[in-house]
Amino acid sequence: MDSRALLVFAVIFCLGCKGTFSCPKRCTCHFSNKTTEVVCPDVSLSRYPSDSLPGSATSLTIQFTNLSNVTAPDLRATPLLKELHLPGNRLRSLPADLLAGLTHLHTIDLTGNLIQELPPHVFHHAPLLNLVLKDNLLTNVSADWLPRSSSLTWLDLSGNQLKESPTGLLHRLTRLEVLHLSQNHLQELPADSFHSLFALERLYLDGNKLQALDSKAFSGNANLTYLFLQKNQMDTLPPAVFHGLARLHYVDLSNNRLRFLAPGTLPAGIGWVDLDGNPWHCNAKLAPLWMWLNSHSGRSEPKCASPEGLKGRVISKLTSTELGLSPAH
Ligand SMILES: *[C@@H]1O[C@H](CO)[C@@H](O)[C@H](O)[C@H]1NC(C)=O
Ligand SMILES: *[C@@H]1O[C@H](CO)[C@@H](O)[C@H](O)[C@H]1NC(C)=O
Ligand SMILES: *[C@@H]1O[C@H](CO)[C@@H](O)[C@H](O)[C@H]1NC(C)=O
Ligand SMILES: *[C@@H]1O[C@H](CO)[C@@H](O)[C@H](O)[C@H]1NC(C)=O
Ligand SMILES: *[C@@H]1O[C@H](CO)[C@@H](O)[C@H](O)[C@H]1NC(C)=O
Repeated sequence: MDSRALLVFAVIFCLGCKGTFSCPKRCTCHFSNKTTEVVCPDVSLSRYPSDSLPGSATSLTIQFTNLSNVTAPDLRATPLLKELHLPGNRLRSLPADLLAGLTHLHTIDLTGNLIQELPPHVFHHAPLLNLVLKDNLLTNVSADWLPRSSSLTWLDLSGNQLKESPTGLLHRLTRLEVLHLSQNHLQELPADSFHSLFALERLYLDGNKLQALDSKAFSGNANLTYLFLQKNQMDTLPPAVFHGLARLHYVDLSNNRLRFLAPGTLPAGIGWVDLDGNPWHCNAKLAPLWMWLNSHSGRSEPKCASPEGLKGRVISKLTSTELGLSPAH
């Protein structure tokens, strides 16, 4: 019997029955050979559906419901869970022992809840690889949420109210590959924020209030490939900030407050750079950027914001005379 036949069997003969193939009211359950997926999307659900959850569940999704709390005893009914998706509910916090006994859980998604605080050690009890806390109300992130030996590869803290980089927590995440910190209120990054993220490949810092970067901000991140810095308030970049990032392929610097870039700031071998939406001031001081733009194809077409006579002109198309350089002979 293939898994589809098994599923049909399960649905036809076991609707509502207890035991291996049971499924809570208002949820759908997909049973296959190796996985059992439960999805509970009912907006009127306000209690955890502990009654008839199949003990074999490997993936549980309760989304866009009125659920306001989940407890460790609730989850004990499904010890084989690998993924727990709880987006769009009304959770305000989680108990510290929530994940105790979930020795297979690698993914927890808490997007779009009302979480303001979490207790110490809250994510210690499961071998998490992916942790999503996007679009909550977090103002503080504590280092002890995760263990020192954490294997986390994906952390999403975007859309919260963080004013400071979660440096203490990040120092524990030496295997992190993707970090989302977009859409917070970050104003500055301590120089060592990302120093332990040796495996980091994608870093999302867009939509914050960053005014500057330390020249060594990314010096520990030799694998950094995609870097998102758009929609911040940076008016300068340290010339060495991208040095040593041999894999850097994509940098988005659009919609900041850059007027000039020092010579050598942009790496020669980079695949794509977005520089649009900055108030570039087109005079002789912009010559390094003008020359860089004219020798790279992987880039946006940034325009002058000033002086008045050049406003709106595409920088790369300016003549050297327009830029105020003495004409070449
Ligand atoms: C279960 O999966 C294994 C390997 O994927 C396959 O060999 C076997 O036939 C499957 N059994 C059923 C009942 O589908
Ligand atoms: C959700 O809960 C709130 C308050 O607990 C209640 O007023 C509301 O009617 C509930 N919504 C649904 C769809 O059950
Ligand atoms: C969890 O939420 C339910 C429904 O709102 C409530 O009856 C119950 O008391 C809550 N339990 C805890 C531990 O907060
Ligand atoms: C949370 O962060 C704010 C500033 O972002 C700080 O003033 C406050 O002391 C922090 N609270 C805790 C418990 O760390
Ligand atoms: C960097 O990326 C390469 C290729 O994906 C990988 O083999 C290597 O282990 C990574 N380095 C670290 C420190 O994760």
